Amino acid sequence: MQVIEKNADPEENLLLYVRKSLYLTGTKYGCGGGGCGACTVMISRYNPKTKKILHYPATACLVPICSLHGAAVTTVEGVGSIKTRIHPVQERLAKCHGTQCGFCSPGMVMSIYTLLRNHPEPTPDQIMIALGGNLCRCTGYRPIIESGKTFCVESTVCQMKGSGKCCMDQEASSSVNKPEKICTKLYNEDEFQPYDPSQEPIFPPELIRMAEDPNQRRLTFHGERTTWILPVTLDDVLELKANFPEAPVIMGNTAVGPSIKFKNAFYPIFISPRWIPELHFVDTTDNGVTIGAGHSLAQLNDDLLLVVSEQPKEKTKTYRALLKHLRTLAGAQIRNMATLGGHVVTRPNYSDLNPILAAGNASINLKSKEGERQIPLNGSFLERDPEANLKPEEIVLSVYIPSTTQWNFVAGFRQAQCQENDFAIVNAGMSVEFEEGTNTIKDLKMLYGGVAPTVISATESCEQLIGRPWDDHMLSDACRLVLNEIHIPPDAKGGMVEYRRTLIISLLFKFYLKVKRGLNKINPQKFPDIPEEFLSALKEFPIATPQGLQMFECVDPRQPPQDPIGHPVMHQSAIKHATGEAVYCDDIAPIARELFLAPVTSTRAHAKILLIDTSEALALPGVVDVITAEDVPGDNHYLGEVFYAQNEVICVGQIVCTVAADTYAHAREAAKKVKIAYEDIDPRIITIEQALEHNSFLSVEKKIEQGNVEQAFKYVDQIIEGEVHVEGQEHFYMETQTILAIPKEGDKEMELHLGTQHTTHVQEFVAAGLKIPRNRITCHMKRAGGAFGGKVTKPAVLGTVCAVAAKKTSRPIRFVLERGDDMLITAGRHPLLGKYKIGFMNNGVIKAADVEYYVNGGCTPDESEMVVEFIVLKSENAYYIPNFRCRGRPCKTNLPSNTAFRGFGFPQATVVVETYIAAVAAQCNLLPEEVKEINMYKRISKTAHKETFDPEPLRRCWKDCLEKSSFYARKQAAEEFNKKNSWKKRGLAVVPMKFTIGLPVTYYHQAAALVHIYLDGSVLVIHGGCELGQGLYTKMIQVASRELNIPQSYIYTSETSTETVPNAVFTAGSMGTDINGKAVQNACQILMARLQHIIRKNPEGKWEDWVIYCPCFWQSIALTTHLFFYLLIFLLRGYQTNMDWEKGEGHAFPYYVYGATCSEVEIDCLTGAHKLRRTDIFMDAAFSINPALDIGQVEGAFIQGMGLYTIEELKYSPEGVLYSRGPDDYKIPTVTEIPEEIYVTLVRSRNPIAIYSSKGLGEAGMFMGSSVLFAINDAVSAARKAKGLTSTFTLNSPVTHEAIRMNCADQFTDMIPRDDPSTFVPWSIRVS
Ligand SMILES: Cc1cc2nc3c(=O)[nH]c(=O)nc-3n(C[C@H](O)[C@H](O)[C@H](O)COP(=O)(O)OP(=O)(O)OC[C@H]3O[C@@H](n4cnc5c(N)ncnc54)[C@H](O)[C@@H]3O)c2cc1C
Ligand code: FES
Ligand code: FES
Repeated sequence: MQVIEKNADPEENLLLYVRKSLYLTGTKYGCGGGGCGACTVMISRYNPKTKKILHYPATACLVPICSLHGAAVTTVEGVGSIKTRIHPVQERLAKCHGTQCGFCSPGMVMSIYTLLRNHPEPTPDQIMIALGGNLCRCTGYRPIIESGKTFCVESTVCQMKGSGKCCMDQEASSSVNKPEKICTKLYNEDEFQPYDPSQEPIFPPELIRMAEDPNQRRLTFHGERTTWILPVTLDDVLELKANFPEAPVIMGNTAVGPSIKFKNAFYPIFISPRWIPELHFVDTTDNGVTIGAGHSLAQLNDDLLLVVSEQPKEKTKTYRALLKHLRTLAGAQIRNMATLGGHVVTRPNYSDLNPILAAGNASINLKSKEGERQIPLNGSFLERDPEANLKPEEIVLSVYIPSTTQWNFVAGFRQAQCQENDFAIVNAGMSVEFEEGTNTIKDLKMLYGGVAPTVISATESCEQLIGRPWDDHMLSDACRLVLNEIHIPPDAKGGMVEYRRTLIISLLFKFYLKVKRGLNKINPQKFPDIPEEFLSALKEFPIATPQGLQMFECVDPRQPPQDPIGHPVMHQSAIKHATGEAVYCDDIAPIARELFLAPVTSTRAHAKILLIDTSEALALPGVVDVITAEDVPGDNHYLGEVFYAQNEVICVGQIVCTVAADTYAHAREAAKKVKIAYEDIDPRIITIEQALEHNSFLSVEKKIEQGNVEQAFKYVDQIIEGEVHVEGQEHFYMETQTILAIPKEGDKEMELHLGTQHTTHVQEFVAAGLKIPRNRITCHMKRAGGAFGGKVTKPAVLGTVCAVAAKKTSRPIRFVLERGDDMLITAGRHPLLGKYKIGFMNNGVIKAADVEYYVNGGCTPDESEMVVEFIVLKSENAYYIPNFRCRGRPCKTNLPSNTAFRGFGFPQATVVVETYIAAVAAQCNLLPEEVKEINMYKRISKTAHKETFDPEPLRRCWKDCLEKSSFYARKQAAEEFNKKNSWKKRGLAVVPMKFTIGLPVTYYHQAAALVHIYLDGSVLVIHGGCELGQGLYTKMIQVASRELNIPQSYIYTSETSTETVPNAVFTAGSMGTDINGKAVQNACQILMARLQHIIRKNPEGKWEDWVIYCPCFWQSIALTTHLFFYLLIFLLRGYQTNMDWEKGEGHAFPYYVYGATCSEVEIDCLTGAHKLRRTDIFMDAAFSINPALDIGQVEGAFIQGMGLYTIEELKYSPEGVLYSRGPDDYKIPTVTEIPEEIYVTLVRSRNPIAIYSSKGLGEAGMFMGSSVLFAINDAVSAARKAKGLTSTFTLNSPVTHEAIRMNCADQFTDMIPRDDPSTFVPWSIRVS
């Protein structure tokens, strides 16, 4: 489609433009800062010089529309559509089960599609590279990668270890002897339409004509506040730069864009010379290569690859160092947008390329109207020394990178939380030049990023080392010198001070080893090699394409072919997800007179509100109103929650008021202008420790006890005590909280559209806030772009905030939280402190455990009390401890209120359990797995709260996991590896799991379904469950299909609404299918019973005969049933649960899900990085209704759990300000973090009480991610043992790279300066 935009505004980005002006809503907003890939589009440009078309992926949120002059943009709608023809990329993503909530899917499609446009037969590596900038919070990436791999020519079948055979063939076939046959195929590749690149749309010829037009003229776009100038010649650029020296030269906009969006930078004029030919060239000579400043980092990568392939190795050391970093810098989109010139000029302190360029003696070619000159790209330039800088009127033409010589070594190092798409914590570029034929240092350069506000050079240290031989003495002096020269203050921004100090010298050590190796290669006689056990210090962790298998029980061949139960049926919305046609809340078309809402949040943790001054905000264009607590017609405080802060604020991030305006931009601008005066109130409680000091709790203590704990401690061989901290977690659902509130009937009715897990709750809160009965409030929920517990309670509060604004303004209100606001306001998983005292015998038998848990609940009750109940009830996990006492209490603090999150406390508490098991093992000189085996439940038993259960499936999962993962053999192999490698260690761990489904309250186990059969035979199934990506609607269709004995295509589920199914309970706790499935099943069975006499009359007939042609309607047979369904009534062994907290006893949970997981990791002791080598998950699924969806849940939860336990770190200031507010500073796993090998087995068991004997698997996989934490624990133990450190240590969660490195104590950690904690206030604090 051709778009003519006469009023292009320089401040408008492509994402907003396609969504709001063109109504192409397939492209999604996930973060607005280029970090999530949800908004990926393909940009195509014609190069008149080469006559080639360049296709590249870009994040639309960072593309100003004015920069697109002459470009063709392809959004997901242009790739394929259900209305016309879906593209193979879309089809395969859907059919490979690569979508769950589907919010990331259009971005994924665009990344793979763009790759195919450039490489129709990509390699698996290219798929990994293409997906590196796309986040998915649901799937765990494996199926997405797999869908991409179907386009590769290389075999996509797992061909492990080069044997040409699938690694699990043996296991899979041996299972044939078992009663159930094991299947491994989740989709059928034969169904895929072939990919034919010749069918792709052509590049618009008019754009070619435009690009080739010799008479192009400067273009100027005037916006509301800014002007965008597009020069067409270099002279024109220089002229403009001379006239507007302060105007940024917009190239990729990946630095300027975020500075405007997140740092409030404002530029009245932009100069946009990106495609000027003089900025696009590569000039390679014998001495070096000059690359045009306009080349993107992706093009730079290709340029350098070419040079490296053509030149001798010794000349290309700088290029190879750059290439290594170019592979992991940001994601593919940013690398394609960002330019070399922009990178060099921006000089962020985390810059990955600049330190290497400086170490490699690069220089910058500048040009202005005054002429050309060259400046060195050195330490002074990077440190922003004004003498070494470019002048405001100059632009960078190109960068010259000299080649290296035999006696010149250049290397780059970077350490980040994630391997790709993550800013480095510390990085470095280093080079050394030797006197020819010697190891005497002639020149040395060390430049570090991430250690100061700019990249800095250790110039003085380097100067002092000139003339020294490259030996151990030099290294130790170098470490001392550089630590003296680069001082990171103890309260430095970014924290991790000791870790960063350690990295400075650990990276130097790596360089030292690398150069020593290099010298040895030149002259092995003269220069000794490094010890063999040091070699692995130099090996980078590979970014491998994951391999693996998913195993599940095959459907009984006797099952009718039409019956979909047990089949890996694709998510019913998968195709819509992949085409971008699935409608999420903010995709709903604009409603007449609608306004946009922006929140103003508290900047203080606990303070009195002295004044709210809205005058400046109200005076801004487009602003309609400011809404405060005064405007809430009903209860502003409801069930302990607060809608708008009134008189005082109780956390940073609390909504004080909201601004309603005609556009998002106006609402947000005005929100910044609201002035609030505060007076701090004491106490300000941020951490659990502070809450304990102040006795600040949200509810009473919950306790479970069995045996006589005190007595037992007297008779044990040993007692250990310890503390474990588990920090919180951000849900990071890809779709931020979004609400559309529409007042109706003179404001007496309110209609809300939102993504929620609990429509009833929203209705209840809105009714309370507006003071109108619930029958006038309707909540519609079609789908959510992920939820994970974060949309159980929070939408009710936000929905009320929005509804109050709609009521006050009498206009529809659209309220879409920006990512940063969402993270700040809605909080997440409860941080937990566990304190334990364990008594055990020397043989590993645990006799007594006394455990206390405290969670940081935040400022309001939310669900904290229930989380603590779950923790207390579930925290024994899989172990029988005869004398067991467990207590828990939620702390009230001045943090945003924490809420439900997948696993609901279990994933935090069980880390404490597994930690004390590992500690017991260490004391008894046993493997943790041996202690687990010894103490694990073995026969039908009673839990500590006296609930009877049969652990047989647990034992089976455990045994299978140990055997099929070859745990003991691999453990031995890891030990062998560890003996031979000083700086890399491997570790393995197996964790068992006994997880509960349901709640200790019967009320929550009810559901309702409404099933209509229409006269054309089609069926509408409605129930109270919410579709969050887990595939609930799909399973409900499967259930209805079996029960009505009709194809799934006859059945539809539209949405969940309080209008059709009132008073529905939340969709959470892995209960969605259980309760709604039973309701749908019963409803269908009632309908079938009603049809029986017609069927009896025509037994040979089909559905159509009975329903369509047969006049059942005229016979007054009701073809609809609405069933409010109490499971306890309809199930023979129903879901009646109870818990008596007085006695500490009860039948708290309907049933258990068991599992066991083995993970193997390798750690880099020098940097703390880890690589997940392999994971084997055995999950007790009983009978899986849909193995594809269940495996998707297990894998997705596992990766989310792995994130919780390893890389996801929320950072808070001591004043309670959350720093981590986006994908840049809160890392969720990316495609590179997932296991190199992953095997998932759904283990068959029985569960007669649940529908079709299935089990709820939504949450259970989360805790399985802790196998990675404990495997790291194992590897760190090995590293410590190798250094003679025998003292016990505890790895708290998340076990970040910082934690790994600092626990692998060695000569480098010993060298760093340590600060007295009483002398400074740290930048961030632990809140658990
Ligand atoms: C999500 C994300 C992830 C990132 N991850 C990393 C990472 O892991 N590692 C890393 O090192 N970097 C990372 N970056 C930063 C990225 O490398 C820089 O933003 C980028 O290189 C800047 O280039 P640009 O062309 O987009 O600059 P622009 O934003 O277009 O311009 C930046 C500045 O440079 C000036 N400028 C640009 N070109 C010229 C020129 N030719 N002459 C004179 N002045 C010029 C402009 O005036 C402006 O002030 C990331 C950025 C994002 C958004
Ligand atoms: S929304 Fe653009 S990258 Fe996240
Ligand atoms: S499917 Fe990827 S974020 Fe939900």
